[in-house]
Amino acid sequence: MIFYTNSTKHLVNKIKTGRFVLKRFSDGEIYARIEEKVKNKSVWVIASTFAPADNLIELVFLLDALKRCGAKINLLVPYFGYSRQDRIVEGECFSSKLICGWFKDFNLKRIITINIHGERLKKFLKYKDIIPFELYARIAKNFDVLVAPDKGAKANVQKLSSLCEKPLVVIEKFRPKKEQVKILELKGNVKNKRALIVDDMISTGGTIIEASKVLLQKGAKEVSVIATHGVFSGDAIKNLEKSKIKNIYVTNSIQQKKSRKLKVIDLSGFLKKLI
Ligand code: R5P
Repeated sequence: MIFYTNSTKHLVNKIKTGRFVLKRFSDGEIYARIEEKVKNKSVWVIASTFAPADNLIELVFLLDALKRCGAKINLLVPYFGYSRQDRIVEGECFSSKLICGWFKDFNLKRIITINIHGERLKKFLKYKDIIPFELYARIAKNFDVLVAPDKGAKANVQKLSSLCEKPLVVIEKFRPKKEQVKILELKGNVKNKRALIVDDMISTGGTIIEASKVLLQKGAKEVSVIATHGVFSGDAIKNLEKSKIKNIYVTNSIQQKKSRKLKVIDLSGFLKKLI
């Protein structure tokens, strides 16, 4: 039996789901109730936790209601938001550890995430992270080189480049300040090549815009991007539309609005198979 929050409605529309209520009180507070017999039954909850924080609250309320009904809960998180403050920094909230602690309270049988941003969370929570490489390979095969836009992305892009037998190019980036990007170095030949940048997520778009500039300066014929999560914060879409990037492929781990360069990869079939 499957339950979901409003964050993943678009991903379950072809799946039969359990009966439940997730609504707002008149003042906007969240209300959750399960309307199925789930005692000792294995259920799945599919929910992403991107901003606003209501998505996260809907999820914990749904988990609490299911736990109180005696369900054995499995959790699938297509986009695991709040995984960025993932280390101790003096004066800062350790938000990702805090949220992992909440999830632990529900004695979840299994947690699956899709291309989680903060691998460090493994220290606080047991989960399996999956990247839909097969879906990406269908797109990547049409390019000449695959580009890791920073050192952190290298291992995953390497896997994709082995799968599609395409050369790997690695960029080294540096953040002078939070949400600012400076490119230090590009390793690999991109002259006259169609380049595909591969990343876990696009937030401000700064990483891929700066990476695309360097690739074009070094002679790339065209630059496109594939990323699992399209967060697109602030003016990201506007800035990406103005950039020289040709196409941007993202999954619908977060529901996407229409935009000229955006090509959305539907994850629903892939997630259905997973669970
Ligand atoms: C590493 O920092 C990540 O893999 C992404 O490159 C990053 O989160 C993208 O952020 P932005 O779009 O703001 O540069």
